[in-house]
Amino acid sequence: MYLVAGARGNVGSEVVRALAEQGAEVRALSRGGELSGLPPRATAVAGDLDVPASLAGPLAGVDGVFLLPGYRDMPGLLAQVVRAGVTRVALLSGRSAASGDMGNAVTAYMVRSEEAVRAAGIPWTVVRPSAFTANALRWLPQLRTGDVVRGPFADVPVACIDPYDVGEVVADTLLGDGHEGKVYELSGPEPLLPGEQVAVLGDVLDRPLRFEGLDDATARAEMAAAMPEEYVDAFFDFYRGGALDESPVLSTVYDITGREPRTFEQWAQAHADAFAA
Ligand SMILES: NC(=O)c1ccc[n+]([C@@H]2O[C@H](COP(=O)([O-])OP(=O)(O)OC[C@H]3O[C@@H](n4cnc5c(N)ncnc54)[C@H](OP(=O)(O)O)[C@@H]3O)[C@@H](O)[C@H]2O)c1
Repeated sequence: MYLVAGARGNVGSEVVRALAEQGAEVRALSRGGELSGLPPRATAVAGDLDVPASLAGPLAGVDGVFLLPGYRDMPGLLAQVVRAGVTRVALLSGRSAASGDMGNAVTAYMVRSEEAVRAAGIPWTVVRPSAFTANALRWLPQLRTGDVVRGPFADVPVACIDPYDVGEVVADTLLGDGHEGKVYELSGPEPLLPGEQVAVLGDVLDRPLRFEGLDDATARAEMAAAMPEEYVDAFFDFYRGGALDESPVLSTVYDITGREPRTFEQWAQAHADAFAA
C-alpha cells in the first residue's frame, strides 16, 4: 500500500496513476478527501500535510509514501511516517536544492525538506525535477480572453518536465530496487523559451497564440500579486541572478524508466482539453 500526497495536483495525480498502473494499491491524499477519476486500486483519503497527526489513519498499513516539500513541520511529518512503520519514502524536491543556498526561500524549503527525509532513518529517495510543463496551465486565464500570453523571463530556456515522467520515476523508485539514498535530478527532453512553448501550444490548439515578455519591473509586480515576496525574490535569483540553469537536458528519466521523457508538445496534446474549457 502506498500513500501519495498532493494527489489532486499535477505531480501527485501522476504518481497515483503510475503506481496503480504498476499494480500497487494506492491511497490518494488530499485535504478534502474526495477525488474523482482515480484509477482502479486507488482510494481517496483525507489528511493535512501541515498537521502530521491527521495522517495517522491514512498511513496505517502503508509500505511507501510520496511526499511534497515545504510543509510546516517536515521533521514532525517524517516522525509520523516512521511511527506508522513505513519502510520507504520518496520526496519531491527541485533542481535548485543542489545549490544548498539557504538565502533563497524556495531552495531553503526544498533543502529543509530533504534534510528531514534524510534524518528520518528509513530508506529514502529524493527527486529534483526541473520546472513543469504543467506550469503552462497558469496561462489559462489569459487564454480564455485572447491569444496573447504575457509572462516573465522571456529569455530563459527551461528543459521543463512533464509531471507524467515525474510520476513514472517516483513509482519506479518506490516499487523498484536500488533507489535508496539516491538524489535524482530530472529534466525534460528539450530546452524551450516561454515563447517557444506558447508557439507549440498554439499549433496543438490550432490557435494563433503569441508570447509577450514582461519587463522585469512589471513581472515582479505581477508575481508579487500571486506569491509571497520572498518567492518572487527567489525566482529572480534563479533566472536573473543566474542561480539556476534548467536548460541542460539530463538522461535520468531514460536511465530509470527506459523511456525518453515526454516533449512539451506531447504534454500539450494530452492536456488540450483543459485549454478548451
Ligand atoms: N511547478 C514547478 O515547476 C515545480 C518544480 C519543481 C518542484 N516543484 C514542487 O512540486 C510541488 C508540487 O507541484 P504540483 O504542480 O504537483 O502542485 P499542485 O498541482 O499545486 O498540487 C499540490 C497539491 O497539494 C495539495 N496540498 C496543498 N496543501 C496541502 C496540505 N496542507 N495538506 C495536504 N495536501 C495539500 C493540494 O491538494 P488539495 O487542495 O486537494 O489538498 C494540491 O493538489 C510544488 O509545491 C513545488 O514544491 C514544483
